[in-house]
Amino acid sequence: MGYWNIHIDVGIFLLILYHKEISGKVNWCYSCGSTGSGADCEVNTDLLIDATKQNESFTFVKECEPPFDKCCSIEHFMQSGGTTSFIRDCSDGETFSYKDPSSKSNFSRLDNLNTSYSNETACVYNGQYLICLSLCNSTDFCNGPSESAANEIFHVMKLLVFSLPLIVMFFLV
Ligand SMILES: *[C@@H]1O[C@H](CO)[C@@H](O)[C@H](O)[C@H]1NC(C)=O
Ligand SMILES: *[C@@H]1O[C@H](CO)[C@@H](O)[C@H](O)[C@H]1NC(C)=O
Ligand SMILES: *[C@@H]1O[C@H](CO)[C@@H](O)[C@H](O)[C@H]1NC(C)=O
Ligand SMILES: *[C@@H]1O[C@H](CO)[C@@H](O)[C@H](O)[C@H]1NC(C)=O
Ligand SMILES: *[C@@H]1O[C@H](CO)[C@@H](O)[C@H](O)[C@H]1NC(C)=O
Repeated sequence: MGYWNIHIDVGIFLLILYHKEISGKVNWCYSCGSTGSGADCEVNTDLLIDATKQNESFTFVKECEPPFDKCCSIEHFMQSGGTTSFIRDCSDGETFSYKDPSSKSNFSRLDNLNTSYSNETACVYNGQYLICLSLCNSTDFCNGPSESAANEIFHVMKLLVFSLPLIVMFFLV
């Protein structure tokens, strides 16, 4: 009796874990905005990565709340070769600052570009500004720098640490 119970428990547990990894949502994104070129939000890789490791200060990062948990976004406005503003945020994939009715700029063509959350960047020029939009849902904090190798190892470790007691139990039964 115990054998099959545990077998099923392990299966369900791994399924839950797996589902959490691929559920098509993001839990955390970089979230910051800046004007002008070379601001921390745009270029300070070390500062941004550090922010993902701190619990207390939510500067530069945000826990995404529905419906803004579909993907992470970057809106990058440029003029004459320089950045005029740079925005990272949690996103519903639909609401963007470039769509703000109070904004004089009209980038409606971006609405038709399908970036399918793949972290590809689509850009549109409206005669005054160039705006590039990137959406991604592959990982938390995908809209910014990552210590990808370190993250991979962390994921594997996490999986092992959580699974090990169950695997050991499985073999003891
Ligand atoms: C990202 O979103 C796309 C489109 O909604 C979805 O097909 C895909 O499974 C999602 N990927 C992840 C890793 O959540
Ligand atoms: C961050 O907070 C979570 C839960 O609130 C806790 O489990 C974790 O250990 C904390 N991490 C750090 C680095 O303090
Ligand atoms: C933006 O441009 C599109 C065509 O390019 C037009 O249909 C739409 O009405 C414009 N929107 C605003 C707010 O000017
Ligand atoms: C983007 O592409 C996906 C897959 O090709 C499709 O399901 C989705 O409807 C498209 N979204 C838009 C806004 O065109
Ligand atoms: C997505 O693009 C941003 C900006 O180019 C980059 O910093 C980030 O590492 C990319 N994320 C992934 C998961 O490739």
